[in-house]
Amino acid sequence: MTRRLALLTGGCSGIGLAAARLLAPDHDLALAYASNHDRAGAAMRQLEALNPGAAVRAFAGRLRGYDDACALVEEVKREFGRGPEVLVNSVGETRDELFMGSCFEAHQALVHEHLIVTMALAHLVIRDMYKRRFGRIVNLSSISARYAKRGQASYAAAKAGLEGFSRTLAMEVAHRGITINVVAPGLIETPLTRDFIAGLASRPCGVAGRIPVGTVGAPEDVAGLIRFLCSTEARYITGAVMTVDGGRSLGDSDS
Ligand SMILES: NC(=O)c1ccc[n+]([C@@H]2O[C@H](COP(=O)([O-])OP(=O)(O)OC[C@H]3O[C@@H](n4cnc5c(N)ncnc54)[C@H](OP(=O)(O)O)[C@@H]3O)[C@@H](O)[C@H]2O)c1
Repeated sequence: MTRRLALLTGGCSGIGLAAARLLAPDHDLALAYASNHDRAGAAMRQLEALNPGAAVRAFAGRLRGYDDACALVEEVKREFGRGPEVLVNSVGETRDELFMGSCFEAHQALVHEHLIVTMALAHLVIRDMYKRRFGRIVNLSSISARYAKRGQASYAAAKAGLEGFSRTLAMEVAHRGITINVVAPGLIETPLTRDFIAGLASRPCGVAGRIPVGTVGAPEDVAGLIRFLCSTEARYITGAVMTVDGGRSLGDSDS
């Protein structure tokens, strides 16, 4: 069986890297990251050592909008000679800030990084998937799309937009063997959240006080689901938003 090509934005860190580890046995990997070359180098070495058969390439550059997405897909196609059959969008940062009094450009930039780049990449790869009659797209949302957290107005807007986008695109291409799904994590320990989690340790309820399973998640808790959604076996799941949050969004058990 030929190896499928998976493009993972954010694939050199956190959830994206954990997903890349699980995809590596039967996928070639194109990993996009922003600027942390040391981290990307370490990720590449780890993935190549685990899976000598996999072609693994990393692509640097902050994705801010359509033109950056276009340049990335062109580079990936040049490098691998084909477009990706699998796209995992796990890119992005949070810049928590109360909306009133904040700089609007920062909100606009965040929505571009999370939502517009995801839409642009889907637009750029879906035609090939359509011709091939196979494609898998998994977009990383967050429970913040539906459960408000102070300071996350633009992050919530971008992630909620991403969910609506994914459902609609899923409906448009379902008849061609292409599935589009969303994974919405709760609190997962990655470089993105390390400082935040360290800050929680000093609170009376501790780090995981509001998480019913009693612990913060690990990237691997999310990666297994991503891997399954990218597989042939997941052909009948599309347009779904799947929460992976240890029960955090079920409600407050003590009220
Ligand atoms: N961790 C959580 O608790 C959590 C919860 C809910 C949702 N999520 C979502 O899950 C996804 C992955 O999060 P994570 O925690 O795994 O993050 P992470 O460990 O910080 O990894 C993010 C990756 O994305 C890259 N990146 C960031 N902005 C980029 C940009 N504009 N263009 C290109 N690459 C960019 C980073 O590159 P560099 O390494 O070069 O900086 C890094 O490789 C995100 O969409 C996040 O919103 C995470």
